[in-house]
Amino acid sequence: MEHFPERLKKKLQERKAINALRNLTSIEGKIDFCSNDYLGFARSTELSSRVSQYLKEHKIIANGSSGSRLLSGNSGLYENTEQMLSEYYHSEGALIFNSGYDANLGFFGSVPQKGDLILYDELSHASIRDGIGISNAKAYKFKHNNLDDLQNLLDRFQVEDSAPGEPVVYVVTESVFSMDGDSPDLKNMTALCQQYGAYLVVDEAHAVGVFGESGAGLLESMGLHDAVFARIVTFGKALGAHGAAVLGSKILMQYLVNFARSFIYTTALPPHSLVTIREAHNHLRKSTGKEQQDLLSEHIAFFRSRIRELGFREAFVESNSAIQSCILSDNKIVKQAARSIQDKGFDVRPILAPTVPAGKERIRLILHSFNNKKEIDAVLKLLFALWIKT
Ligand SMILES: Cc1ncc(COP(=O)(O)O)c(C=O)c1O
Repeated sequence: MEHFPERLKKKLQERKAINALRNLTSIEGKIDFCSNDYLGFARSTELSSRVSQYLKEHKIIANGSSGSRLLSGNSGLYENTEQMLSEYYHSEGALIFNSGYDANLGFFGSVPQKGDLILYDELSHASIRDGIGISNAKAYKFKHNNLDDLQNLLDRFQVEDSAPGEPVVYVVTESVFSMDGDSPDLKNMTALCQQYGAYLVVDEAHAVGVFGESGAGLLESMGLHDAVFARIVTFGKALGAHGAAVLGSKILMQYLVNFARSFIYTTALPPHSLVTIREAHNHLRKSTGKEQQDLLSEHIAFFRSRIRELGFREAFVESNSAIQSCILSDNKIVKQAARSIQDKGFDVRPILAPTVPAGKERIRLILHSFNNKKEIDAVLKLLFALWIKT
């Protein structure tokens, strides 16, 4: 840190002072209650051998895509994969981005125009907020999952004598929130957006693989996938792969190909990633995928019943998803708690402010199909013993 700007040094010191300095850690050999590999696909040898087999059978030997999709990076494999995705998610179109972060950056950075409005949930993921940050539209947040607050904003910004559809109002939410694991009332939210002519955009990163017919997400499980303007699905979580797609109309895809900078100005995904996306969806559709999905649901139900029985349900955010957060408050306490549970052989991580609001620091437990009830029970007992002391 010798030749390093003073102001930046100070920022690091400030982080340290509030116990929020981030460090890269790699914890190996412990029971996984931390990764987004909800269904165990990232560690599936069956899936990885299917990918190798596909590459071999189709004589795909390229290591990289060699360019942006608008130049040399496009391929039949890309287009077939997008076709598969639009069928899988029952969407008119699908456009692959290199990650969920890129998809949100590209979407929100290019779709809402100057003069438009973006109304977004206050707990929206950083990738949504960063996309909004580079958009020229005005943005206002509504209280987390609070439809009354959203309606107040829709009322406040309704422009009486503007041309129909101008300005455009975009409403943004997640079907499963990444830090809390909870979900908005999507049925009433879609109805509200229809009533006000607003365009609803839903990030399904943590719902894919967990909810819905063939794991196609929460909106589809509720029959609401056609009621939204766009969905963002990611493949680095339950699908155990990498990459993401925006789902929506064909004209939206055409627009993004022309204007989404995180789509245009980057090297396209390598063939291996595309084949993994393909095969992970095949795996999910098959009975082995369904079995994992059912096991995960069983574990979520077991977890919820155990926190009730142990008597500390109130410490947890209400959630029916794989993400279960125990609020402990205070960075120092959460860090110590995580360390002590890790020492007993479980990979759990502290989630600190400023990633979550101060006072909402937490241990976020992620459940998987491959965890077993004994492990869930054991980690909960450890957490309970720490919580009772706070
Ligand atoms: C809600 C949400 N959207 C988008 C992303 C980014 O996805 P990716 O990891 O594919 O960049 C995440 C990642 O954690 C997320 O939680």
